[in-house]
Amino acid sequence: MKILGIDTSCDETSAAVVADGTRILSNIVASQIDIHSRYGGIVPEVASRQHLLTIIPVVKRSLEEANIGWNNLNGIAVTFGPGLAGSLLVGVNFAKGIALASGLPLIGINHLEGHIYANWLEREPLPVFPSLCLIVSGGHTNLILMRGHGEFEHLGRTRDDAAGEAFDKAARILHLGYPGGPAIEEAASSGTPRFTLPRAWLKGTNDFSFSGVKTALWHLIHKEEILNSPARVADAAASFQNAVVEVLATKTIEAARKLGVRQIILGGGVAANKPLRYRMLDASPVPIIFPPSVLCTDNAAMIAACGYYKIQQGLTSDYDLDVVSGLSLD
Ligand code: KG4
Ligand code: ZN
Repeated sequence: MKILGIDTSCDETSAAVVADGTRILSNIVASQIDIHSRYGGIVPEVASRQHLLTIIPVVKRSLEEANIGWNNLNGIAVTFGPGLAGSLLVGVNFAKGIALASGLPLIGINHLEGHIYANWLEREPLPVFPSLCLIVSGGHTNLILMRGHGEFEHLGRTRDDAAGEAFDKAARILHLGYPGGPAIEEAASSGTPRFTLPRAWLKGTNDFSFSGVKTALWHLIHKEEILNSPARVADAAASFQNAVVEVLATKTIEAARKLGVRQIILGGGVAANKPLRYRMLDASPVPIIFPPSVLCTDNAAMIAACGYYKIQQGLTSDYDLDVVSGLSLD
């Protein structure tokens, strides 16, 4: 069964064809990073207009690369939330149009669920249940218990900044550019985490908070004149990354132990962070799985994979599918 996936939730226009929820036949991602980096972050209206320009060429290429036509497809899966409303609208409307024209089933996908299903792509053996999922992206930091396909319990979330957002803001404070996660990881690789930054443990909860460590970094650069020296910038980046990674890894592993899950699943752009992966691999009593970096950040293959499991359960959408920018997984 072949599903066309479409994701326009944020600043990437992506289309992919996935066979049987696991095999990637194509996965096209048109990034807008060059456009938004001029502004130091995503400008929502610019993002949605850019999706309008790129959606048709991106979908066409995904079919060409997969070497198939519309009549070889079995469904169209599209992200309907969470994300930027104007961006989501482009993908959802486009998917509705082609579903109507082709008669193929339309499947609305929760973007967070998509990040989890990135772990079903090109993996042998497939993930097992129950699993604890840590989704860490530019917009989300969520701990989710997954008991089976489509069976989720939301255990915790960030109370302020998402982990990726904190990386992006920290990179801006350190003048390292956008997107911040890869920039901080790169700078930190030549630094030592010698500055003390706070960790918000929020004990007794599965929630997270990253605005304090970001503010502490801002105070640090002024007090220690960090920006005058690349070596001190590297140390500050390493200290910041260490603080965020320590909290994410410790709290996730503690929750996994308590719940007795069989596996920890990572997803979302921040799951591409190597120190986070290594720390979790080192400390976890249960196996950890994560997608390759290109499938951690936004892509439509994960949406198509999720669409396959939805269609297996008979969960398709009507033509009144609307975007929900603040969608959660409960
Ligand atoms: O999942 P994603 O592509 O988009 C959202 O759904 O938000 O995640 C993007 C986020 C950005 O905040 C980016 O800075 C962060 O993921 N990110 C990283 C790394 N690569 C991307 N954060 C830390 N380390 C990385 N290597
Ligand atoms: Zn995402």
